[in-house]
Amino acid sequence: MAFQAFRVHGGDAGHSAGIDQIDLDDLSEGEITIQVAWSSVNYKDALAGSGKAKIMRRFPMAGGIDVAGHVTASQDDRFKEGDPVLVTGCGLSETRDGGYSEQLRIPAANTVKVPEGLDLREAMGLGTAGFTAALCLHRMEQNGQQPDMGPILVTGATGGVGTLALQMFSGLGYEAHALSGKVERFHDLQEFGASQCISRRDLHWGQRPLESSKWAGAVDSVGGEMLSGLTRVIHPWGNIASCGLAGGVELHSTVMPFIIRGVSLLGIDSVNCPYALRQELWQRLASDLKPTRLDQLITREVTMDQLPEVFELMMAGDSFGRTVVKVG
Ligand SMILES: NC(=O)c1ccc[n+]([C@@H]2O[C@H](COP(=O)([O-])OP(=O)(O)OC[C@H]3O[C@@H](n4cnc5c(N)ncnc54)[C@H](OP(=O)(O)O)[C@@H]3O)[C@@H](O)[C@H]2O)c1
Repeated sequence: MAFQAFRVHGGDAGHSAGIDQIDLDDLSEGEITIQVAWSSVNYKDALAGSGKAKIMRRFPMAGGIDVAGHVTASQDDRFKEGDPVLVTGCGLSETRDGGYSEQLRIPAANTVKVPEGLDLREAMGLGTAGFTAALCLHRMEQNGQQPDMGPILVTGATGGVGTLALQMFSGLGYEAHALSGKVERFHDLQEFGASQCISRRDLHWGQRPLESSKWAGAVDSVGGEMLSGLTRVIHPWGNIASCGLAGGVELHSTVMPFIIRGVSLLGIDSVNCPYALRQELWQRLASDLKPTRLDQLITREVTMDQLPEVFELMMAGDSFGRTVVKVG
């Protein structure tokens, strides 16, 4: 029976995106079939859906790097009909159809049972952004980050990763500082756990390879000049989790922060995160890392036909919080 999917067309025919009627056989294969309930919108979805970057490797394909729904059929013993499950990253909307589809086939090797403590909508309120914030925190703590070392700076603070990182770090007792281009959102950022808010416009990194250090660590979803500046102002033995490129892909720095201050630059790849760690982090996202204000962080709920306007907003840097997509 036909159902709806928000698909991106491209290649020689040129970029277009919208709702198509498709059948199960039009979808990428997988041992598990799900009735999709919710998806979400991440920066990468906006890049793929607007055609601004080459995210998808083939066309047409359903967008959406996140998906949550109920199993309707499974060829894998670990999953049975009715199980609530989720997938984030793992090639969705890159090499295989993603979550903007009323039904989806997914590989068992990437599928996580939604842990107790989260419903499907909340799971997508977190989605890749929440998983990435949790991965940043995990990698920084694995590398010795502790609350008593000093404050953590979160860049791109009003975005999905940013708002969730603020909640998670402050929830664990860190002093979290927010760096944002949206002064009018400072009050909200404080509500989400920022003890200090800094305007991007007031930021002057200085030009020396090492400037006075200000923060014990950072979560950076901006990249480019922002990341270059950050390397110069992190306390000795601090960590920078580099997860994004909203401001650029280049990195100009020197080795000085690394060899004089022992600063660590940690790479964050949420797409190919090993399965055991993926499960562990989702358990934490349902317990000690679950944001107390998750409901308020979900600032928008849309249907698939509203996706293009959300993509536009995100590409303009005007995001605030998380957008969930009601698919079912
Ligand atoms: N490595 C991974 O596995 C992974 C996973 C998820 C996301 N990401 C990346 O992380 C970034 C954030 O993703 P998201 O889903 O949170 O996106 P988002 O909700 O759109 O947030 C991005 C935020 O970055 C800031 N920003 C946007 N354009 C900027 C610019 N030109 N210069 C400086 N700051 C800018 C804005 O915050 P302010 O106005 O508050 O500054 C914006 O709200 C993206 O680059 C995304 O690709 C990577």
